[in-house]
Amino acid sequence: MNRYTELARTMRSTIGQAHRADHSIRVARCAELLAMRHGLDPARARIAGMLHDVARMWPASRLLEEAGARAYPVDDFERRNPIVLHAPLGAAIAAERFAVRDPEIAAAIAAHTLGAAEMSPLARVLFLADALEPQRDYPERRQLWELAMQDLDAAMYATLERTLAYSRSRGFEIAPRTKAALDTFSRMKVKVSTVSTH
Ligand SMILES: [Fe+2]
Ligand SMILES: [Fe+2]
Repeated sequence: MNRYTELARTMRSTIGQAHRADHSIRVARCAELLAMRHGLDPARARIAGMLHDVARMWPASRLLEEAGARAYPVDDFERRNPIVLHAPLGAAIAAERFAVRDPEIAAAIAAHTLGAAEMSPLARVLFLADALEPQRDYPERRQLWELAMQDLDAAMYATLERTLAYSRSRGFEIAPRTKAALDTFSRMKVKVSTVSTH
């Protein structure tokens, strides 16, 4: 059995919920495609996609407990919305149970839900693969996926903007980290349009 098949099998038994495991396989495939398209290592993207939700099945109480056990500094937003802790805890579980200790994969998994002010190309790929995998059901999905295949930064900006608009319309609290991510990609967008007008 190759490493990837073994990883997929252990991921499935760790998550224990078929729909979440299937989502993880689709995210792995999308991350791999984006990585190939943008000259990144497809194997690392695939592993990040495969493991990004390995802590997603835990209820809020368990997420807070697991964060406490690892002395993870839970911030105010996370305390009010413990579900987002599955991202940093997913990075911890990838190392502990799957021996995946690549710091860039860990940072990508940790940023896959809220984004971050600084995101590596791998983190962008994982964030977009998670948001845009084919079973995500919203009208702009296909267009955003096509944009992601062309331009990771433009797709990050457009996807974050859509996420924030959706959260506002639903009255959800906006995470400071997501706002910071939007600021980063909006500055990049300004830079790109400045260059193109000269
Ligand atoms: Fe997630
Ligand atoms: Fe996910």
